[in-house]
Amino acid sequence: MDYISPLDDDTLPGIERRRDVTPQELLEEYVMKSRPVVLTDTVKDWPAMKKWTPQYFKERYGAIKHEVKGKVYTIAEQVELMMHSTMEHPAPYPYNLNVDHVFPELREDMRPPTVFDRVDRLLSPMMPKLLAKGTIKHELFLSGKGSYFPILHVDVQHLHTQITQVYGSKVFFLYAPDQTPYMYPKPEVPLYSAVDNIFKPDLEKYPLFAKAKCHKQILHAGDTVFFPTGWWHTTLSPEPSISYGRALLDRTNWNGYLKDTYKGWQQRRPMLAEPALAIGHITGALFSMLEMFMP
Ligand SMILES: [Fe+2]
Repeated sequence: MDYISPLDDDTLPGIERRRDVTPQELLEEYVMKSRPVVLTDTVKDWPAMKKWTPQYFKERYGAIKHEVKGKVYTIAEQVELMMHSTMEHPAPYPYNLNVDHVFPELREDMRPPTVFDRVDRLLSPMMPKLLAKGTIKHELFLSGKGSYFPILHVDVQHLHTQITQVYGSKVFFLYAPDQTPYMYPKPEVPLYSAVDNIFKPDLEKYPLFAKAKCHKQILHAGDTVFFPTGWWHTTLSPEPSISYGRALLDRTNWNGYLKDTYKGWQQRRPMLAEPALAIGHITGALFSMLEMFMP
């Protein structure tokens, strides 16, 4: 059977779209059942939805520099490139910026808090800095037509992911964790697939990839996709796009997060690894107790 690129295949299943999801429902129906969901009403009152445009970033933050594939671009240059990007000559990507480091004031544009904030331990004042060190919590992506995330991957540290489309649109290609046997995880980096182009995969080299079941979902401004840990994913922008990504840590991925973080400590700061793990277990127990009383 000929391989149909997921870009051209309009028969692929999408992701369920929902409104009014409570924190409890998010955990029980989506996180614990490993189901992704698109929330359509969670950011409608954010100032970001009116303020964040390519022009806004060019005018306000144009001089900030960022490196993509060894080349440095200012935000002003990236905005120019993304506005004139084509499928054949896409703007540099991923052009991703850590909001906490580059423009922490933008967090104020992401109010009121969403359903995710209620369950996210990463954002809690109770979260010890040591445990969250190095984890990117808020990330901004600037992309143009044809910008394609170059790696089909699973996000690190067992973190769940939510991505909000603030401007333009973006297409998500998602594969459930049970599709991993068709993903050809790289031996040296098992969270990365060796299949480097899902639109034109090398099926001689990766024949099983033809069996992988893809979910395709376009996000428009105001949509937020949530997918639990273990989902393989990549994206393509059909037009200039601004999206905001966030990692999510809750009781369901706490132990996985600790395990992965512990491995990092063992390599970088072996003396700290055991005490940090102990702090992690105590903190997890405290969070669980507190969350029992959350509405
Ligand atoms: Fe990702």
